[in-house]
Amino acid sequence: MSVTAIIGTQWGDEGKGKITDYYAQRADIVVRFQGGNNAGHTIVVDGTEFKFHLLPSCVVRPEKMAVIGNGVVIDPEVLLGEMEDLNKRGLGALNLSISDRAHLILPHNRLLDGAEENLKSSENKIGTTKKGIGPTYADKINRYGLRAGDLLKPDLLKEKLEFLVPLKNRMLQALEAPGQVDLTETLERCQDYARRLGPYIKDTSVLLHEARTKEGKKILLEGAQGTMLDIDHGTYPFVTSSNTCGGGMCSGSGLGPKHIDEILGVVKAYTTRVGEGPMLTELDDEVGEHMSNIGHEFGTTTGRPRRCGWLDMVVVRHAVRLNSLTGLVITKIDVLNGLDELKVCVGYNLGDEISKYFPYDLDLLGRSSPDYVILPGWGTISEEEMQGWASKGWDALPENMRNYINFIQNDAGVPVKIISYGPGRDQTIFL
Ligand code: GDP
Ligand code: IMO
Ligand code: MG
Repeated sequence: MSVTAIIGTQWGDEGKGKITDYYAQRADIVVRFQGGNNAGHTIVVDGTEFKFHLLPSCVVRPEKMAVIGNGVVIDPEVLLGEMEDLNKRGLGALNLSISDRAHLILPHNRLLDGAEENLKSSENKIGTTKKGIGPTYADKINRYGLRAGDLLKPDLLKEKLEFLVPLKNRMLQALEAPGQVDLTETLERCQDYARRLGPYIKDTSVLLHEARTKEGKKILLEGAQGTMLDIDHGTYPFVTSSNTCGGGMCSGSGLGPKHIDEILGVVKAYTTRVGEGPMLTELDDEVGEHMSNIGHEFGTTTGRPRRCGWLDMVVVRHAVRLNSLTGLVITKIDVLNGLDELKVCVGYNLGDEISKYFPYDLDLLGRSSPDYVILPGWGTISEEEMQGWASKGWDALPENMRNYINFIQNDAGVPVKIISYGPGRDQTIFL
């Protein structure tokens, strides 16, 4: 397959980073196509942990090319920090390309993100990462955003900032933000970014097209966030500001819709969510605590505790439909070790009917309850017992775990292709 996409099916943090790093062994180029440093993708290589917010999760494999596509919003400070960090860890020789069309997050948009959240009442707060994601995508849609390519055109850069900075200061003042931004300082920062990032900035849509058609390269698209955080198809307004799924893969990478051959949806074996908004299967009991403790469910970007609950197949089926998923990847199955029984939500009980679909109406959702199927757990499993699983494959798994996975693929109508049972690369079964 020449182009494969890896997409989150839930509310993010499904383990996309780990699976991208794992799958990157079969790819030549790995592309981020949306989101920004609201994402936090963790990979573990030989016991060493790496967390990436903007760099694609292939950069520990120096032979791979990393692309930050046009759909990403880039905070240059964060990107340069990640590059420096990799350099210190001996992985500085980056084969990186940044789209000239990607929009930049500047300090005023970080301030605006926080100010907008502060003004909202507690029930309207989204619980954003405060990284400036929403305001930067808003600038893009308003058609006055600053793009990476603008850094390379000194006159245009100055002209755009002379418009943007006073406008943003007025907005900051109106929103009672604690600070203002200085035009000269912002311009100097951008000139510095131009010097340091300039060599990486190019037309990545053309680059990907030529790599695919002329050089036969294999491309892997690395999604950020998850389907339920999609600006159109998620739990709006408790979502992020980009299309995390569906057409976002194409619009954010510059690849055409017919060129994506395989779309893998990453499904955490239970559900987590960071920030505000509905989550019908959320647990406030010892099972939720088990998931949180054993799964180390704390945000990679903000450190906030993730809300935990049972697997919600209404959500997974929503993702199957919206993303034309061709396969599923089940992650963190090990976290369910030791639980006597496992509940899986297969519909939403609305009182007089059970719906199989995720509703538009969040009030209706708030009045619904999960319709659960109960499956038996597989008991406690020691580290030693799990050790041979990667090489032994499917047959080595306990029967009740196979039943749980079979239940997911039958209900989703899509085959499971990969099972992950630990954070390490080697704790992965390729089916
Ligand atoms: P992403 O945002 O989708 O890339 O996911 P994150 O990296 O934010 O969160 C997933 C967390 O789970 C990370 O700490 C991973 O190291 C870890 N992880 C990934 N797969 C597995 C797995 O199969 N089992 C366990 N126990 N941890 C995993
Ligand atoms: P990865 O790629 C989990 C959530 C935030 C908040 C909402 C909006 O690691 O899966 P934003 O800053 O984007 O405006 O916040 O979206 N959110 C994520 N939750 N994983 C992520 O990324 C997320 N990126 C944003 O917590 O609820
Ligand atoms: Mg994450």
